[in-house]
Amino acid sequence: MIPAFAVLALFFTLLTLSASFPFTPRDTIPSGEKLLILPLGDSITFGYRPGFNNGTDGYRLELSKRLSGTSFEFIGTVHSGNMSNNANEGHPDFKISQIGAVMEPALDMGPNIVLVHAGTNDINKAQTQEEPYSTAPQRLGTFVDQIIAKVPDAVILVARIIQAENDDTNSRIGPFNDAIPGVMKSRIETGHKIAIVDQSVITEDELADGLHPSEAGYAHMGDIWFNAIQNASVTFKDQSPFLATGPAQSRRHLGPRR
Ligand SMILES: *[C@@H]1O[C@H](CO)[C@@H](O)[C@H](O)[C@H]1NC(C)=O
Ligand SMILES: *[C@@H]1O[C@H](CO)[C@@H](O)[C@H](O)[C@H]1NC(C)=O
Ligand SMILES: *[C@@H]1O[C@H](CO)[C@@H](O)[C@H](O)[C@H]1NC(C)=O
Repeated sequence: MIPAFAVLALFFTLLTLSASFPFTPRDTIPSGEKLLILPLGDSITFGYRPGFNNGTDGYRLELSKRLSGTSFEFIGTVHSGNMSNNANEGHPDFKISQIGAVMEPALDMGPNIVLVHAGTNDINKAQTQEEPYSTAPQRLGTFVDQIIAKVPDAVILVARIIQAENDDTNSRIGPFNDAIPGVMKSRIETGHKIAIVDQSVITEDELADGLHPSEAGYAHMGDIWFNAIQNASVTFKDQSPFLATGPAQSRRHLGPRR
């Protein structure tokens, strides 16, 4: 017979242990595969901030902190910021179609997660006859089709883009964002792992220069991306959410497929 106080003491010891146990994986993304994350977009993906023309770690810094309990790597052909893993596919100044025209080598790297934040330059710059503001959401649809064609099994997280300071620009961002679910619907219905991520909660208070986030704004974006990846691991649970997709998959395969 074990005395009651001993049971109690053991209970409290365990309680203390679990509270201080360093490996409580609350923030870990369940995944049988290494997450190969392609941050894809324009200067906001590059991490541009005034005074840092070569870019900063941008939202990738906070995202990498949140992913520290998970096996992951950022991929892409562009390098910006001070992190050792500073790869991305952020092209400052580029509109959706311009990003689409150069992204193939990055998609060939075989991302299983693509973070899309694109459209700001379509909406902020002067519109052209070929690319009017009104069809920017459709251009985003075509862009996502290009991604699907290359990496059909990847989780594609499409941002409702962040707000801008300029009222004119901002008055077009709202309708652009609101059109995204309609544009993505058919792509989602064909079984592709696409989710829409609301980055538009980043308002002008979190900008450094009217268009680009401050350091705090970028950190906020990183948290949102992290939550979106967490959500994707649940939403697409029955579809092997983070299946390795690219040529590098056998080399990068880390554990049993789920
Ligand atoms: C920015 O990039 C250019 C071109 O790669 C390089 O020459 C320059 O030294 C960089 N500046 C800083 C501050 O890192
Ligand atoms: C990156 O590192 C360089 C060199 O140490 C430094 O000058 C620069 O301010 C850093 N950039 C950021 C965004 O932290
Ligand atoms: C994650 O899912 C929750 C629950 O549906 C939702 O409230 C939240 O907005 C989602 N987060 C992101 C970043 O998509």
